[in-house]
Formats: sequence, C-alpha cells, structure tokens
Amino acid sequence: MLVLALWSVFLTVVTQAVEAQVTVYGQIPLAQQSPTTTAGQAPAPTLPAYDATVLTPPPPPETPINQLRFEMPREAAQAQGLSIPHKGSSFFGFSIEMSVITQTIGKNSTHLFPPFLNLMSNIVERAGSVMIRLGGNTQEYAKFHEGLFDDGRITQKEDSGSKQTTETPAVLYTIDMFRMAANISSLLNVKWFLGLPFNDTSTFHLDMAEYGQTILGDNLLALQAGNEPDLYVAHQKRPEGWGVADYSSELNRMLGVVDSNDKMPVKNKFVAPSISQPDWNDIWNSGFVNTFKDRLFALTVERYPNNNCFMQFGAGTFVDPQALFPQFLSHKYSTDLLGNYLDVSRIAQEASLPFIMFETNTGSCGGFPGLSQSYGAALWILDYGLQMAYSNFTNALLHLGGQNVYYNPWISPPTNQTAFNQWTVGSSFYPPMIIAEVFGKSDTARIVDLRAASDFTPAYAIYERDVLTKFALFNFINDPAGNNNIDVSISIPNAGVPDSVKVKYFLADSVQAKTGLTWAGQTFGNNFEADGRLKGALNVTTVNCDRTANVCHIPLRAPSFALVFMDSNEATEVGQATATFATTAFTKGHNTIKADPSLVAMSNGHGGKERLKLGSTSHGSVEKNAASRGVEVVQSLCVLVSAMFGGWVVSRGFMR
Ligand SMILES: *[C@@H]1O[C@H](CO)[C@@H](O)[C@H](O)[C@H]1NC(C)=O
Ligand SMILES: *[C@@H]1O[C@H](CO)[C@@H](O)[C@H](O)[C@H]1NC(C)=O
Ligand SMILES: *[C@@H]1O[C@H](CO)[C@@H](O)[C@H](O)[C@H]1NC(C)=O
Ligand SMILES: *[C@@H]1O[C@H](CO)[C@@H](O)[C@H](O)[C@H]1NC(C)=O
Ligand SMILES: *[C@@H]1O[C@H](CO)[C@@H](O)[C@H](O)[C@H]1NC(C)=O
Ligand SMILES: *[C@@H]1O[C@H](CO)[C@@H](O)[C@H](O)[C@H]1NC(C)=O
Repeated sequence: MLVLALWSVFLTVVTQAVEAQVTVYGQIPLAQQSPTTTAGQAPAPTLPAYDATVLTPPPPPETPINQLRFEMPREAAQAQGLSIPHKGSSFFGFSIEMSVITQTIGKNSTHLFPPFLNLMSNIVERAGSVMIRLGGNTQEYAKFHEGLFDDGRITQKEDSGSKQTTETPAVLYTIDMFRMAANISSLLNVKWFLGLPFNDTSTFHLDMAEYGQTILGDNLLALQAGNEPDLYVAHQKRPEGWGVADYSSELNRMLGVVDSNDKMPVKNKFVAPSISQPDWNDIWNSGFVNTFKDRLFALTVERYPNNNCFMQFGAGTFVDPQALFPQFLSHKYSTDLLGNYLDVSRIAQEASLPFIMFETNTGSCGGFPGLSQSYGAALWILDYGLQMAYSNFTNALLHLGGQNVYYNPWISPPTNQTAFNQWTVGSSFYPPMIIAEVFGKSDTARIVDLRAASDFTPAYAIYERDVLTKFALFNFINDPAGNNNIDVSISIPNAGVPDSVKVKYFLADSVQAKTGLTWAGQTFGNNFEADGRLKGALNVTTVNCDRTANVCHIPLRAPSFALVFMDSNEATEVGQATATFATTAFTKGHNTIKADPSLVAMSNGHGGKERLKLGSTSHGSVEKNAASRGVEVVQSLCVLVSAMFGGWVVSRGFMR
C-alpha cells in the first residue's frame, strides 16, 4: 500500500506536469461515436488517397512452387554475407511532405492527432524509436512566418508560381511547428530530420536550422542540405550545366554561413547529397564524401522504383499500373534497383556514416492507382525494405504526400469529412511496423538474403546477438486455387531445430486486395476506419518441429509473408502497443468507443476502458472543450501517462 500511495503522489505530479504541457485532441467523428456505426462513409468523389481501382493479379507460374528448403547455421560466425547490425531507430521511418504535416501529424503543438501518435507508438514499441523527416519538394520553398496563423495551423501554403512536376506551392511555417515536434518527442521516442530550403541559395535561409536546433535539441537528428539537387536543373531551379561541383560548392558556402551563425550550436549534423538519379553517381567518386564527412550525420539518396509523373503532371511517358504490377511482385525488382547502391553503402561504411534512403515509396509523382495501396505493394515494400537492410542501408524513410497521392502510409480524412470519417491507414504502413519487429530492439540484428531459387519467393535469415533468431519468408504468388501454397522446410545443421517455432503472418485475400489486411490477425481497418490502433485478437501460430529429422515445416500460402521466430522464448506477443492515445469521445465518464471494446484489447490484457477512466481527472477540461469545440473532444494526457505506466496505473484506476 505504501508503494501504491507513493506511486499515486508521483503520478499526480507527473500527470500535472504533462497535462500542463500538451493536450491531445480526440478526433473520433460524431457519426461514429455510436457503437452501431461499423464503417466509415465513402467520400463523394474519390481522391487518389482513397482510390478504388483494383488491379488484376498476375497469373501463377506455369510450374507451381510447393516446396522450399532453407538451411542456416545457428552461429552468425558460420553464416556468410550478413549485413551490418541494424540499430538505433526502426529501420523504416517516414518522410512527410511539409505541406501535409497538418493532415498527418497534428494541427499545432497543442493539437496533436491521436491516430498519428497511436501509429508511431506501434513502431516505437517494437523498435524503440522512429525517425521522421519533415521535408520533400515543398521544403525548397519553405519560409518562416513570424507569429501564428489565425486558423491555428502551423503551416500555410503560398503559390510558388512554379508549374514544375511534384512542386507544390511554397509553405509558410511558424515557430509552433518545432514546438509540435518537440511535444511529440516528449510523448514518444520520435527523432526528427528537417529540410533546408535550397531554391534560392544567394542567401541561405537558416530559420529551420536555428529553431530546429534550439527547440528540438537532441531530438533533431540532422538537417537536409537540399532535396534531390540532381533534379534542380530539370526543375528550373538552377541553370543548364549546373552539376556536382556546383552543388558541392553551394554546400561548402552554406557551411561557412553555419560556422558564423551563433544561433546554430550544432555545426556537423547535415545529410547530403540526397540525389535521386543515377546520372549523378559521379558524386561518390568526386571527393564529396571525404570533403564533407566530418560535417555530415549520414549519406542520403532518394529513389522510387518508377514514376507516375505522366498521369499527375503530363510529364514523361505513361506507366500502366496493371503492366507494372507483376514487376512489384518479384524479388528482382528490388535487387536490380538496390544493386546500384552497394558501392555507396560500402563508401558510407568506410566513412563511418549511416546510409539512409531518405525518401521512397511505390512511385514518385504520387504512386499508382490500384497498385500503391494494395497488399501486393505492401509485400513489395517489405521485400524492398529487407533488401535495403541487407544491402547495408541503415534506414529508409517512406514518403507521405497527402490527399492527392496513392501511397500514404496514413492520412486524415479530407477536411470536410472529419465529422463522419475516421483515418485511413494504407497497406504501406504495415511493412514499417513489421520490419520494426523483424529487427527488434537488440541493436544487433543482421540480415542475409537467402537467394531463394524463385523470384516469387524471397527469403531472409536474421541473426541477433550472433545467433539465428528469425526467418522472413515471402510468397508473392496469387493463387486462390492453392496450387502454390508452399511447405517451407527450415533446418539448422549441427545445433538442430527447436521443439517448436512461432510464426506471425501478414495476410490478405489476394495481392490486389486493398482491404482486410492483417498482421498476426490484427488490422488497422480499411479506409476511413482507423484510429491508429491495431484491432482484433493477436494470432501467433505455433509450429511444432521434427527434431529427429531436424526440420520445421512452415506453411506459406499463396500469397503471404511469414516471420518465423526460431527461439520460442522470444517475445512474440507484441500486438497493439501498450501506449495508446485516446481517440474516443469521452464525456461524463461514459466511454462511447466506436469499435466493440473487446476488439481493442491491450496486449497486457487490460481493455482501454480502465485507462480511459483516468481521463476523468481532467473532466473539467473535457467538458468545457467538448462543448465549445463540437467534434474535437479533448482528452487529457493523463490517459497517456496511464498507458506508459501500464499495469500500475490501471491498478490505481481500480483503487479509486
Ligand atoms: C491550436 O489550434 C487550436 C484550434 O484548433 C487553437 O485553439 C490553439 O490555440 C492552437 N494552439 C496553438 C499553440 O496555436
Ligand atoms: C526561387 O528562387 C528564385 C531565384 O533563384 C526566385 O526568383 C523565386 O521567387 C524563388 N521561389 C520561391 C517560391 O521562393
Ligand atoms: C508543447 O506545446 C505547448 C503549447 O504550445 C507549449 O507551451 C509547450 O512549451 C510545448 N512543449 C515543448 C516541449 O515544446
Ligand atoms: C554489408 O556490410 C557487411 C559488413 O561490412 C559486408 O560484409 C557485406 O558484404 C555487405 N553486404 C553487401 C550486400 O554488400
Ligand atoms: C468535400 O469537398 C470536395 C471538394 O471541395 C467536394 O467535391 C466534396 O463533395 C465534399 N464532400 C462532402 C461530403 O461534402
Ligand atoms: C490464426 O492464424 C492461422 C494462420 O493463418 C489460421 O490458420 C488460424 O485460423 C488463425 N486463428 C484464428 C483464431 O484466427
């Protein structure tokens, strides 16, 4: 009891401190506050973010694949070709176009979006931390705006006058953007990259760097010195003939300005060169790395496997998503693309610098209808991510572009639909979360591509603390008839297989499916149904192995992805993260959660309801704000605190 009493004093202090800092606003739409509402209403015209196109799957191969066999040594010392250890942040982070911050993260420092926090919580719980970059094409014309905007938002758009591909209007941002990022980092282990504008470098505009360093401190990882400089000529930001040497000299000039800027205490955390096209590959042998390595945090590139610039802007040639789909469902699509970066990843290791894919997704200029939000695309991103990790990229950032792109990992409903729709979590959010689980938090995970005989069945082995811990297995084949369901045999020479292994599956009905995606039985829901929490019961399959024959038979249906945990003692029970952020309307202690509360069970066995009760300590603010704000219902942050301290606080809740 003494402990509990002390705890409750401590909790009160923490609660008050946190409460004073941040308030998280609930976003559950009015129409869905009734438990009888089961799905979001479809919007009238379909924006690319909710595109309804469904592609035709490629046919199964002529010769069915039914069996695969992998044999890997238990000890890492005996395994060939392992990657560098993946440590620190989650392998995949996110890259958020500056113009869409207020559609994806929050409105301002005191109005964060709970679905965003819940999604990040699901990555952080698995990997320890996550990187987010605020930047992209819009960073090039971003300008600091003194004071705050009347609508409470941290950014506003201004016409840049540019009609170039992917170049959205200039973005004005306020000091509150940095406070918002800082407040997010105080809730969850989120680390930031910010982009510096390079449209006009006759004067370097370093407000982003100055406020970023001052307000974010160590939570700011680095500043990106220009985005895709290799496209500056094509985008008419620089004259014809401008090239690698000119970029290097601009960077050098900027560093001179930085050195004499006393509002920037940190002088050596930049990322560059962030090039996107192979025709600038000369940069790697130009002395660039040696010249700048002491000022850099990481080397960066940006690359999409293809582009949809024709459909979005009439630029280039038409790319037919249907014709492209089979390529995405092959291992070769990733290995061909990433093979180009093996020299760079070696150069980065020699320079002791991280090597980050700073921006990527299924296609530049918005991705592809039908393809980008499909389960097949998610399988590809998983393979592409694991292949990047094998190729010694240290991290990769998946891009979010807003309502007009097809590939968002998540997005809020269009503004005129917030009253009746919840959020959309795209198929592309699952791979970052799954890979966070593949590499875990040990900071020792190394991965090797097993070079499976078929292009449809990539496979990887993962070693942690120098022993074999996991297999990651893909079946890209779409075959409802089941003729390509595969029996994967796994054996471990000498050491032998364990009695049993645990398997988590990433599933959907077909590669073209855009609904019904599940990871270990849980889902974020379909378009307009998500609040960022995984719903449904966690389903981890136990597969018994044959120790005498030294083999485990893993069923791999067509299509599917399986993560096999070789050590059955390893914690596989991570499902929905324990730290959650209330998204439910909450008035007078009555929980009006939309989904069946049993479906939002927490992984520690407690439902959300107990936690929510704690919210009543700030009842006053709930009611006051709920009344004045209509849809936006305030949830005090003590809900979060309760989640952070897990069972303890829940117990305290029961005591009251
Ligand atoms: C955030 O936006 C809300 C309106 O949604 C406003 O009431 C509040 O003052 C804003 N906060 C800041 C710090 O601008
Ligand atoms: C970009 O830079 C050019 C000068 O190089 C300038 O004329 C133009 O106004 C700038 N665009 C924006 C949106 O700041
Ligand atoms: C969080 O936001 C509030 C409101 O803008 C602000 O008072 C507070 O300083 C912020 N916290 C941090 C750590 O920036
Ligand atoms: C990744 O780096 C490790 C360690 O330097 C090296 O042994 C391995 O060959 C590299 N992998 C690839 C695919 O280049
Ligand atoms: C939302 O706004 C768009 C564009 O202004 C409009 O086409 C659409 O009909 C609106 N939707 C609703 C449900 O009002
Ligand atoms: C759990 O997943 C396995 C493999 O997909 C499946 O066969 C089984 O039916 C699932 N169990 C439940 C309760 O959904």
